[in-house]
Amino acid sequence: MTDSQQSIHGEWGSRWAFILAATGSAVGLGNIWRFPYIVGEYGGGAFILVYLACILLIGLPVMMAEILIGRRGRQSPINTMRALPAEHGANRSWQAVGWLGVLAGFLVLSFYSVVAGWSLAYVPFTAVGTFTGAETGEVEQFFEALLQSPWQMLLWHTVFMAVTAFIVLRGVQNGLERAVRLLMPVLFLLLLVMVGYGMGAGAFLEAINLMFQPDLGALNGEALLVAMGQAFFTLSLGLGAIMAYGSYLTSRASIPGNSGLIAGADTVIALLAGLAVFPIVLGAGLDPESGPGLVFVALSYGFGQMPLGALFGTLFFLLLSFAALTSAISIMEPATAYLVENRGWQRPKAAVVVAGMAWLVGIGSLLAFNAWSGFTIAGLNFQELMEYLSTSVMLPLGGLLIALFAGWVLPRNLTSEELGVSPRAGLFRVWLVLVRYLVPAAILVVFANSLGIIG
Ligand code: PHE
Repeated sequence: MTDSQQSIHGEWGSRWAFILAATGSAVGLGNIWRFPYIVGEYGGGAFILVYLACILLIGLPVMMAEILIGRRGRQSPINTMRALPAEHGANRSWQAVGWLGVLAGFLVLSFYSVVAGWSLAYVPFTAVGTFTGAETGEVEQFFEALLQSPWQMLLWHTVFMAVTAFIVLRGVQNGLERAVRLLMPVLFLLLLVMVGYGMGAGAFLEAINLMFQPDLGALNGEALLVAMGQAFFTLSLGLGAIMAYGSYLTSRASIPGNSGLIAGADTVIALLAGLAVFPIVLGAGLDPESGPGLVFVALSYGFGQMPLGALFGTLFFLLLSFAALTSAISIMEPATAYLVENRGWQRPKAAVVVAGMAWLVGIGSLLAFNAWSGFTIAGLNFQELMEYLSTSVMLPLGGLLIALFAGWVLPRNLTSEELGVSPRAGLFRVWLVLVRYLVPAAILVVFANSLGIIG
């Protein structure tokens, strides 16, 4: 029986612990750094519309699938994707889903830590008043200078990865829940402060136009792919992070309810980040298409102009770093849990090895902004390549396979039991249609379209 089955890594202390950890995983750089910069790059309203549709119709059902698979398997994603297919007479190759996820996790974590390092770097610089009263050109130059100093980036990347490894080696449950419970609401409030500031001092109406007036003509295949990839990235789906967290979830907790809460909170935070960033960008005449630096430049300029900005700014970048930390630890969980289960390693050793490998790959990403900037494949530098391969290719591919597995391989009585509803219930039927048909079809169409095969 599922009730007696428990993961060897332990179980969440309460229903809240899971929600907090999973929300901590979902809310991170994806919402505050990546969402605004790709919205700016891909033209705003229409992009957001597609993104929201992906969250609701693809992300939410895949999240339910990932959690239920994790909770059913009660092992690391690699082992769960070995055990469940065996139990249900399915092909052994399903295990590849677990491996794909672990690989995707390394790629994501490698550049994630570099960007989290930028956020860490901005903490002391904001605190000493670097941006107070600064002109837009100066804040832009400051960010450029950071990108041009590999040693500085290496320092912050290393600090971030070390802290992440330290938290992971102590186990998922220790102390983190309390920290998330306290710090996430503060981050939320700070975002509200920034939105409020943008309403008064920035170009708020223009920002609303940019974000919510869809110009569907602006959408191309690449934009669709990026929007879909972002839905996976921001909800932490497709690489087994949420599956691993699901494996520590008690069988009493409601998977649909929790998924809705997590996806809802994540979406609100991303939209707020956009509403905080774009009024400043448009009001100060910054370029919405300026790429990965957008948020750092825009917000540090905003903090530099507003009353108590140094204080708010310091707190903001500190909390952003913390939000990145709670995401990074979840990215490490599948690989770490696997090494503990299959190699019999102690958790500390596993965590240090996983973090160390991602740290090494991350060096390539930080060099892509300076020494290696000339090295490109298909027009993408090393960092862009890592971001593209993981976010736009591997996560949707992982999500596709997870949906197919939950929809076609696992029997209905099992999935409906895990979801806590009758197989006849409307909610269950909608979910089943989504994971069986709509999610796979949508992902395949977007892939084919971006390859120029159709459309
Ligand atoms: N969801 C996280 C964010 O938005 C990133 C992440 C991706 C975490 C994949 C886990 C798995 O920042």
